[in-house]
Amino acid sequence: MYILVNEGIIPRSSFSVDIEDRGYQFGDGIYEMVKVFEGVLFEWEAHLQRLFRSARELRITISMNKEELTEQVQRLIAIEDLRDGYVYIQVTRGVASRIHHFPEGVSSVLVAYTKEGKEERKEELAGIRVITTEDIRWQRVDIKSLNLLGNVLAKQKAVEAGAQEAVFVRDGMVTECSSSNIFGIKDGVCFTHPANHLILNGITRQVVIRLLEKVSLELEESPMKLEALYGMDEVFITNTGQEVGPVIEIDGRKVGNGDIGVYSRNLSIEFQRLID
Ligand code: PDD
Repeated sequence: MYILVNEGIIPRSSFSVDIEDRGYQFGDGIYEMVKVFEGVLFEWEAHLQRLFRSARELRITISMNKEELTEQVQRLIAIEDLRDGYVYIQVTRGVASRIHHFPEGVSSVLVAYTKEGKEERKEELAGIRVITTEDIRWQRVDIKSLNLLGNVLAKQKAVEAGAQEAVFVRDGMVTECSSSNIFGIKDGVCFTHPANHLILNGITRQVVIRLLEKVSLELEESPMKLEALYGMDEVFITNTGQEVGPVIEIDGRKVGNGDIGVYSRNLSIEFQRLID
């Protein structure tokens, strides 16, 4: 098993994290998770743009340019002979004595590894149960940073409640979920939170928005009140691993009649077409 560390590919077993890596001590870093279908990176350009945007927002300098990183990640996929799975890429500000502000002369640390395995998407096919919870995260969740404690606590709450995902509500408005974006459909209109600093602008979200026309849905990028979410005809979540995940229950209440809706099913089918 090999991993990419900065510009080099080395055996995973020979890698160790420095105790003073700022990713480890402060969560001072960023990441991306990219799906690979039949050896091809899905929506790579969009993930690459988002990674470099996150870096810019945090003033982390990635040691490679986009072309060099693309080449290295493709080399890793080839060495690992990855057919179906994902690549995880992480960049931390680097290793330095523990001070809160940016240390001088620090070099960022980029690591990437691959994971083999086709997702079965059992939950998505059966329908997903979600709970809602207060969005206690910081106000720059548009940056895909390693600070995921708010997300971790919310997901744990969902799991303990027998649900699969937690929907965040900030000031009465639905933002996104612990590891996905959320959409609601009412009378042929598809609502989702606008891509501002209160949500991560998911790559899957962007793909699904492009597919809405194909299934005769209109887009309305405005936040939903929690009450409005409960009253939607259909609700679904999106992320890299789950693609389109129809929601059948929110806080124990059925969405629509409790079955997967037609629009969600059709969107799922359209999404699969992009991969097959
Ligand atoms: N998370 N919102 C949050 C908070 C997320 O963590 C994610 C994805 C998304 C959807 O983004 P995308 O469609 O680009 O995967 C939205 C990844 C999958 C993760 O942390 O594992």
